[in-house]
Amino acid sequence: MSEHFDVHGGARLTGEVEVVGAKNSVLKLMAAALLAEGTTTITNCPRILDVPLMADVLRSVGCHVEIDDDVVRITTPAELSHEASSGAMSKLRASVCVLGPLVGKLKKAVVALPGGDAIGSRPLDMHQNGLRKLGATSAIEHGCVVAQAEGLHGAQIWLDFPSVGATENILMAAVLAEGTTVIDNAAREPEIADIAAMLGEMGAKISGAGTSTLTVEGVAELKPTEHRVIGDRIVGATWAFAAAMTRGDVTVTGVDPHHLELVLEKLRLAGAEVTTYDGKGFRVRQPERPQSVDFVTLPYPGFATDLQPFAVALSSVSDGTSMITENVYEARFRFIEEMVRLGADARTDGHHAVVRGVEQLSSAPVWASDIRAGAGLVLAGLCADGITEVWDVFHIDRGYPHFVENLNRLGARIDRVGTSGPEGG
Ligand code: UD1
Repeated sequence: MSEHFDVHGGARLTGEVEVVGAKNSVLKLMAAALLAEGTTTITNCPRILDVPLMADVLRSVGCHVEIDDDVVRITTPAELSHEASSGAMSKLRASVCVLGPLVGKLKKAVVALPGGDAIGSRPLDMHQNGLRKLGATSAIEHGCVVAQAEGLHGAQIWLDFPSVGATENILMAAVLAEGTTVIDNAAREPEIADIAAMLGEMGAKISGAGTSTLTVEGVAELKPTEHRVIGDRIVGATWAFAAAMTRGDVTVTGVDPHHLELVLEKLRLAGAEVTTYDGKGFRVRQPERPQSVDFVTLPYPGFATDLQPFAVALSSVSDGTSMITENVYEARFRFIEEMVRLGADARTDGHHAVVRGVEQLSSAPVWASDIRAGAGLVLAGLCADGITEVWDVFHIDRGYPHFVENLNRLGARIDRVGTSGPEGG
């Protein structure tokens, strides 16, 4: 039986909410555990569906994985398989992140092509080109990425675009390559810095993490470690937008406000009063109806494409007209069709959307197409009259731990209807 959320409109969110580890970090840290024989422990892990899916991917190559509340323990055996073909591969994008570690450690990998959110074309050319520069061959065969090398050597690699996934895969292969690798135009996301930090604790030699030039001195082997995942800036930003949209007052802990500087600045421009607590969290108070603001998505430190649905949702209830430009994933504007069902005055033209704010949205049945679009529809439902049904909520469960419980604790009224998901059981 499929599930949906009944979202009651008219809530004003107030109170405190804690954010746990980042989805887009933990899954890659789990893959990095493949690089060291023995038991790696990862703490502050979010309780989301993608973590057990990634555990299945690691089990498929021979690891033993235990998930104990917010702690994940991965034991990597001496004999690891180079074939990652678990059914879970097709369910999440991050599964492709086993490619770099397997090539680094075993010098060969057969990795089923990943799945994940339907947000537009997601090729792997930069991942493959990077591995080729390190000395591997790489091809797509029978639905798998196949890579093989006699030995890996350091190289100078320029990425066409600062791709998060390509940076991670090349980094995780390069740590065990012979010699020095320089990755230029590397992604600068905080999650990349988190992986580099964990690899450093494992014995890797990496400098420049968090900048666009990563330098890696290859080492012969890595040892297991214990690492705490950084707080999820995308989830933290979701609560910030929720506060602004509902004219609420929400304090968010467990996330570094430096990771959200541009987001919080945009909310200030929309009229929010924002207070930051160094390294710990922030508070967003929205006394009046938000003012319209323009948004442009770009790689970090630009405005994250993952937050674009929230920018659209906020604009749809703001005073004035906003222009939203999507530069990373073209299909993310599918979300706008669902917003129009809720009475948003929005239209798209190529990479741009124009949204004219309305006083109140109007409840309707709507369908989540990916994690962030799903969460954006729930926030929009809070600003609609009546009860908005949000369908296909399994997407939301992939990325947000205790989503409904957290919102209800902040004063929303949302009911999960249907079989119980990870929050219920
Ligand atoms: C990650 C995040 C995703 C986020 C995205 C951008 C995970 C699991 N997912 O996805 O939530 O929206 O970063 O911040 O961490 N590209 C190519 N060739 C490649 C690789 C990428 O053309 O080989 C393009 C993509 O089509 C896209 C852009 O580069 O247009 C950015 O992709 P990338 O940064 O790689 O995103 P992901 O790592 O897949």
